[in-house]
Amino acid sequence: MDEEDSRAAQKRRAGRRAATFVADGDVVGLGTGSTAAAAIEALGDAVADGLSIRGIPTSYQSRARALEGGIPVTALDAVDEIDVAIDGADQVADGTLIKGGGGAHAREKIVDAAAERFVVVVDPSKEAARLSHPVPLEVLPSARPPVMDAVRELGGTPELRDAEAKDGPVITEQGNLVLDCDFGPIEEPAALARRLAGVPGVVEHGLFVGLADEIVVGGPDGVRVRTTA
Ligand code: 5RP
Repeated sequence: MDEEDSRAAQKRRAGRRAATFVADGDVVGLGTGSTAAAAIEALGDAVADGLSIRGIPTSYQSRARALEGGIPVTALDAVDEIDVAIDGADQVADGTLIKGGGGAHAREKIVDAAAERFVVVVDPSKEAARLSHPVPLEVLPSARPPVMDAVRELGGTPELRDAEAKDGPVITEQGNLVLDCDFGPIEEPAALARRLAGVPGVVEHGLFVGLADEIVVGGPDGVRVRTTA
């Protein structure tokens, strides 16, 4: 098995384990990305076996995967609460996450934060002693120049995320831009999160502080589940 295959197997393991945290009747936040997709696939299998759930997608991708898997989808304004949300991450350190690799972190944060229980699914390559991955910012298009200046003042290096199969920048599902902001090793994620949230024109940043309840890590030989403090 090459490295890509074994990483995919680890993500599948994490997703499948996280799906076992979902109970009959639950409203489930459905995260975005390949690891969350593994959980959605497992939930689809469970629905085929009789589990009754409703999913709240965090993106076009997770909605499409849920519908493909036969999971009924609903919306935040149609439910009283979200029982559990399952979502991936780009980096995890001490229970704090950097998300937004798929540019979906604004909707992901709304759903993940609203859930009673937020379960993060990753492979071991996402674990770090300290966060250092660039922090994605979803930004109103007209605010790009002042937001880039503010990021530089906070010690970061912002880069406009370019699309891969389209000329020009990535446009989010809300019609905004994404800036990937490299701050190097982040000593105080909570403080940085507060500062980024206060920059006018930033719709949402990808630092998820104090939101995760469990981190499910799919490894080469099994799954580890870490409960955050
Ligand atoms: C999307 C995200 C994803 O959850 C994150 O990028 C991880 O993706 P993957 O599981 O494919 O590695 O935050 O906005």
